[in-house]
Amino acid sequence: MRPIKVAILGFGTVGSGVYELIETKQDLLEQLLGGPVRVDAVLVKDVGKSRTIHDDVLVTDDFSEILRLPELDVVIEAIVNVEPGYTYLRRAIEAGLYVVTANKELFANKGFELRQLAEKRGVKVCFEATVAGGVPIIGALKQLLRFNQVVKVEAILNGTMNYILTKMREDQVSLEEALLQAQRLGYAEADPANDVEGFDVLFKVVILLELLTGRKIDWDLVRCSGISDITPADISQASVRGERIKHVGSLVVDDQGQVEAEVRPVSVGESHKLYAIEGVDNAIVVTGDLTGDLVFQGPGAGKYPTASIMIEDLVSIFQSIKKAAVSR
Ligand code: NAP
Ligand code: HSE
Repeated sequence: MRPIKVAILGFGTVGSGVYELIETKQDLLEQLLGGPVRVDAVLVKDVGKSRTIHDDVLVTDDFSEILRLPELDVVIEAIVNVEPGYTYLRRAIEAGLYVVTANKELFANKGFELRQLAEKRGVKVCFEATVAGGVPIIGALKQLLRFNQVVKVEAILNGTMNYILTKMREDQVSLEEALLQAQRLGYAEADPANDVEGFDVLFKVVILLELLTGRKIDWDLVRCSGISDITPADISQASVRGERIKHVGSLVVDDQGQVEAEVRPVSVGESHKLYAIEGVDNAIVVTGDLTGDLVFQGPGAGKYPTASIMIEDLVSIFQSIKKAAVSR
């Protein structure tokens, strides 16, 4: 089998993690896919930066060069902001390439359109890493949607904010100091206001709502606030009451498909399922009409958890292509 040929867009925390895992886990990938996976190109903003990338990999800031590569199969996108990623992914899909993305801002804004375009073109767009980092919640929800109706989701969806709130309570550090630590650990967004003002969770809630309802969501439906106003005094007063402040995204879908959603800090007691979720972990409590509450928990951000989930997407794309070919 010829190699599966990949281009990685973005070589920051996540993109470099994808590159490293493809390099170091070739044996496992060959076992899973029946052939090697090869990174042919990396797209970055600043081609002058020094990076650990093999000499035979094209490093470019010009997406047209990537589209001209022979026999490219898939584009793995981990850059920031809606543009230029949206234009690149549209062009990739139009060229018949598969797409894997971690970019939740792009996907919340344009995921619906990209999925429609991909369907028309007969390729897949995978976006597991856009919500909850290393927790495979998109796949779990797709699985549940087959027979259960998901009526409610209540979740901690931002690793940076949960890390900050945990550090402020446990180590009495300021929000600013805890944010610096989260940035050093590779958890925070390039613009950390996206984390602390709640927008990153808003993006994730919109992606979940579109998945659950199958339609484009009007963002005005979702009230959104972050943790920038939370003070050490708020945190210690919550502790005195036996509570913890958590940043929670919640959504309810009724049986007519109408939705209500909210993103905000909440003070929760010990009996609440999100009380004990600490540090960079995310947790998603999904209520199915038949299952009742299910809890999914794990690292919500970080290099390898996120990169590995993107490679899970890559593996599932090419395993399903292999399966389809065998059954033909
Ligand atoms: P990052 O470390 O800031 O890296 C961003 C990368 O994108 C850099 O390599 C940068 O190029 C490149 N880039 C930025 N603007 C570009 C442009 N206009 N054209 C081409 N390349 C451009 O970000 P990250 O933490 O890896 O996150 C990447 C994406 O994954 C974001 O959408 C983020 O929301 C999402 N995500 C992150 C995590 C996480 O834990 N960090 C988890 C899940 C999802 P240069 O290297 O040249 O500056
Ligand atoms: N900045 C995000 C977070 C990255 O901390 O959750 C993962 O989406």
